[in-house]
Amino acid sequence: MNSQHKNTAVKANQPTYDLFAPSALVNSYPLFKRMREEDPVHYSESFGYWVLTRYRDVEAALRDERLSSDRTALFINQLGSLDVKEIQNFLHLISKMMVEKNPPEHTRLRKLANQGFTTRALESWRSIIQNTTDQLLDNVQNYGGMNVVSDLSIPLPTLILTEIFGVPETDRANFIKWSMDIATFFGGAGGSNLEEFARKADKAAAQFSALIRQLIEQRRRQPGTDMISLLIVAYLEQGFNLEELPSLCIQILNAGLVTTTDLISNGVNALLRHPDQLQKLQQNPALINSAVEEIIRFDTAVPFFFRIAKQDLTIGGKDITAGSVIALGLGAANHDPQKFDSPSVFDITRSPNEHLGFGAGIHFCLGAVLARMELTICLTTLLRRLPNLSFAPDKQAIPTKHNTLILKGFDSLPVKF
Ligand code: HEM
Repeated sequence: MNSQHKNTAVKANQPTYDLFAPSALVNSYPLFKRMREEDPVHYSESFGYWVLTRYRDVEAALRDERLSSDRTALFINQLGSLDVKEIQNFLHLISKMMVEKNPPEHTRLRKLANQGFTTRALESWRSIIQNTTDQLLDNVQNYGGMNVVSDLSIPLPTLILTEIFGVPETDRANFIKWSMDIATFFGGAGGSNLEEFARKADKAAAQFSALIRQLIEQRRRQPGTDMISLLIVAYLEQGFNLEELPSLCIQILNAGLVTTTDLISNGVNALLRHPDQLQKLQQNPALINSAVEEIIRFDTAVPFFFRIAKQDLTIGGKDITAGSVIALGLGAANHDPQKFDSPSVFDITRSPNEHLGFGAGIHFCLGAVLARMELTICLTTLLRRLPNLSFAPDKQAIPTKHNTLILKGFDSLPVKF
């Protein structure tokens, strides 16, 4: 940890919580509950950052202008003995991303990015999602079983996003790997091999950027209706040069790939673990919209997001010094009994359901409409076409081994039908 961010208010006898313990990676909610009850604004000596687990603190932090979204301090904290020069490609890519920016720069970038998510574009994606889901289920329909992760939840968002961006088929295989490598380091990596994560993220950033730059050049010469073409038009119309466009494209691809992959597997898992709710949804498919919201609340794909304190401040009676890294526990907040009745109950009719799964405030997830559409179409089609869906009795589901706090899903989820 970089000592410059070490907080002086830390007590020697404070409790420790291992967010990367194998049991916490399988099911983090008991640990979140303990943290929320014992030390809701917790400074972790081992990780070198603060962790918030109460809904009210997390929601307020998401909207707090005293907190910066520029997380460079977190990346540098994670470097260990590695020289900062070793992550130049990663830092360059990240430094131009909207998710790293504060107003007014964020406002400008968000306005540009919105041009890629027009109502017309969104409507055209509906049929891409439906057709892709059907094709993937056609591939497995006759086998009586599948692995939800490799057969559905990885290929679905990958195929959809690469179609939306007009990425050639030959390059698609790299996308999930590059996204994963960047996201792991970006999202607060854990474990002993942090330097390896840093190097991987840097290599992925270089390769991903090179491919996207090629695609941008190509679309400048031959514009189409894909997202890269839409964003080029938006940039040129506003009189901006295209230098930062690769970062925006990679951010949208990155933010949309791994998250949706994890959310689909978390959703199937939640439904299969709660047969009464599964049956209710099968009997009343119109409940799909509230079921999707409950899946995002109950087991979100993005349990944490980070901020950096721009100035000294106090949260929940704890003094936090300028420069400190703060992990906002979105997943923990979504299970706070002060906000949600019986938070550990999975209830697909829950209303109201003001979860923080997509964040809040100015950085509220840009892809939320697309993510909800993907989940809705995917789950509706899955339950309609495979009504006898259940866990495969002879094979183990394997929770994610993502070595990062900001992602949570499955590596393997075998089912039969
Ligand atoms: C499927 C589940 C998804 C979840 C759980 C999720 C979650 C989130 C969260 C929590 C944030 C807030 C980050 C912050 O406060 O700094 C965010 C931002 C963002 N998301 Fe998503 N996301 C998902 C899907 C997507 C998709 C499909 C896309 C695009 C294709 C996308 C694009 C973005 C972008 C660009 C931002 C940054 C917005 C900004 O900085 O203004 N997300 N997402």
